Amino acid sequence: MPLYSEKVMDHFQNPRNVGKLPDADGIGEVGNAKCGDIMRMYIKVDPATEVITDVKFNTFGCGSAIAASSMATEMIKGRTIQEALTLSNQAVAEALDGLPPQKMHCSVLAEEAVQAAVQDYYGRRGAPGGPEDAGGPMSQ
Ligand code: FES
Repeated sequence: MPLYSEKVMDHFQNPRNVGKLPDADGIGEVGNAKCGDIMRMYIKVDPATEVITDVKFNTFGCGSAIAASSMATEMIKGRTIQEALTLSNQAVAEALDGLPPQKMHCSVLAEEAVQAAVQDYYGRRGAPGGPEDAGGPMSQ
């Protein structure tokens, strides 16, 4: 059995949504202490609906990390930022038809990059604590 699924190979060789968003509303950068790989995720958010209208990524890392970030961008595009926050690395790995056990940490990077981008979005809007802190005057 091949080590990598066809989906992993496809997303590694033809990654979706690669690049930068110069007018991003949130940017998340995370690094993997284990291997030193770095992932940067850019999101564009419609403030009225909080839907992620565009997403791009750059990954300076291994093939599994590239495939995982590519898949993660496809999974959160068109979703709300609250939905994006629930994206787990297991869900990304499952969508790729699995990753070898020793490569599961690469999918964690994708989950963390999405969360960091959303937190950056909240931070820029003055609600650094995320949705639970975003209640404003109504919650006082
Ligand atoms: Fe570094 Fe995969 S080996 S993220």
